[in-house]
Amino acid sequence: MKKKLAVLTGAGISAESGLKTFRDGDGLWEGYDVTEVASPEGWKRNPALVLDFYNMRRKQTVEASPNKAHTGLAELEKYFNVEIITQNIDDLHERAGSTKVAHLHGEIFKMRSEKLLIPSYEIKGDIQLGDTAPDGNQLRPDIVWFGEAVPMIEKAAEIAMDADVFVVVGTSLVVYPAAGLVDMVPLYNPKFVIDKKVPYLKPMHNLTVIEKPATEGIKELTVQLKKMFGL
Ligand code: APR
Repeated sequence: MKKKLAVLTGAGISAESGLKTFRDGDGLWEGYDVTEVASPEGWKRNPALVLDFYNMRRKQTVEASPNKAHTGLAELEKYFNVEIITQNIDDLHERAGSTKVAHLHGEIFKMRSEKLLIPSYEIKGDIQLGDTAPDGNQLRPDIVWFGEAVPMIEKAAEIAMDADVFVVVGTSLVVYPAAGLVDMVPLYNPKFVIDKKVPYLKPMHNLTVIEKPATEGIKELTVQLKKMFGL
């Protein structure tokens, strides 16, 4: 039986694909004020601006390609039962070939009615003000904004609690509940943190820190895991 490898990823894993992280810059996100484009209040104030922002990010995602960190994680499926929990709304894990990806914060190619949590609709192109869901209400991105519920957290918690090995890649670990998942991993199971610039970490048992860009970090992780499990 393959061991269970759970991987929590954040914006840093897609940085080498050309997609910007959130907290490495100046508080602006591609020139947009984060609180205006990723909150229910901002949506109420200016839905057209919010739609423009996500139209732009959708286009960037279409144009981006998975990098070696994404493909390296997909290749680990040869040896492990890999479950990815991503905070990213891009689809680069799926395009790299990962088969089990839970999107904690939603997906850029999904939209839903602003009045209903489900169903959600696959949409590749732009969405404008006035585009409605079948219930007659405005479509909005199926993305978890600040202050909103995180429906996938229950599944993510199960994955973390069941992990033989837990890996964190490219996240500043400041946004909860995602940041709390690492606390749910069985105490003595191996944990790895890969980040270009590792954020503050609480003390943890059996922790290996790899302070490198994600592409190099996943390569090193693969070497260490193969050694650890005699693969
Ligand atoms: N390789 C590895 N790590 C990197 C790289 C890289 N090439 N580039 C940046 N990083 C690291 C940064 O050092 C930082 O620790 O990636 C992390 C990115 O952190 P954030 O920008 O805070 O992104 P993330 O943790 O994914 O944000 C969480 O916050 O804005 C909300 O919902 C949004 O999902 C997002 C959540």
